[in-house]
Amino acid sequence: MSRITYVNGDYLPEAEAKVSIFDRGFLMADGVYEVTTVVGGKLIDFAGHMARLRRSLGELRMDAPTSEDDLLAIHRELVRRNALEEGLIYLQVTRGAADRDFAFPPAGTKPSLVLFTQAGPVLERESVRRGIKVATVPDLRWARRDIKTVQLLAPSLAKMEAKAKGADDAWMVGEDGFVTEGSSNNAYIVAGGKVVTRHLSNAILHGITRASVVRLAAETGMNVEERPFTVAEAKAADEAFITSASAFVTPVVSIDGVALGDGSPGPIAKRMREVYVAESLARAI
Ligand code: PDD
Repeated sequence: MSRITYVNGDYLPEAEAKVSIFDRGFLMADGVYEVTTVVGGKLIDFAGHMARLRRSLGELRMDAPTSEDDLLAIHRELVRRNALEEGLIYLQVTRGAADRDFAFPPAGTKPSLVLFTQAGPVLERESVRRGIKVATVPDLRWARRDIKTVQLLAPSLAKMEAKAKGADDAWMVGEDGFVTEGSSNNAYIVAGGKVVTRHLSNAILHGITRASVVRLAAETGMNVEERPFTVAEAKAADEAFITSASAFVTPVVSIDGVALGDGSPGPIAKRMREVYVAESLARAI
């Protein structure tokens, strides 16, 4: 079934959805994005995604394409037109179409706004039942990973490198030997009863799921340490997991072929997933 997408004010069948070859998103990766999960036709953590979008736009001095009320209405209309029960809504804003120039285009150039849906299971996934294997790879990205830009070549290459090593996903590692994050998710280990995840800085994306999981872990009495951890520390951990809008909380069962614990999803990862899913479904709009 062909999807109905949204492009600059119009709802269009995907075959008719087009942007200019001069769009700066296409020519310069001059754009930002958000991915919001839909379960039961409702949006998870929508306010968080809008807050981060606002921040990303601000950091890049990019105009907002429209109001957040309009963006909510567009998300809901795409859910309705595509009868989307479970899946994702992808939103991308770029600095618009303009003559190719490293300088920003003239004031008043309209940002481009594109949204599309991607149907698929979120709650029940094989990756959650069996846990994922990760491989560590060098983090080749730029220095402002806190901005959710569409420059996704380095994480795409990281994921392919991990797959070539027989893993499901990559954990990217800085030159200092500390894990930054997954190719498209935040990374956690559990050691000595503590949940450890890298602190917020320009080195990682400030995950919306991470914010909820860190809060919920503390609320359920878990000890959370926000600090960097090395690959060696991760391999010696009792368990590990990742978080993202699409993965929610997904257990990691091995790192570079080294099994964690007994090699099956750990109890704390499972518990965090249950708690996160229950809370986010209750708050979905
Ligand atoms: N990725 N780190 C990176 C590098 C990411 O790309 C993402 C999200 C996250 C998790 O952020 P959140 O919890 O807000 O989804 C962390 C999205 C899902 C993607 O690119 O598909």
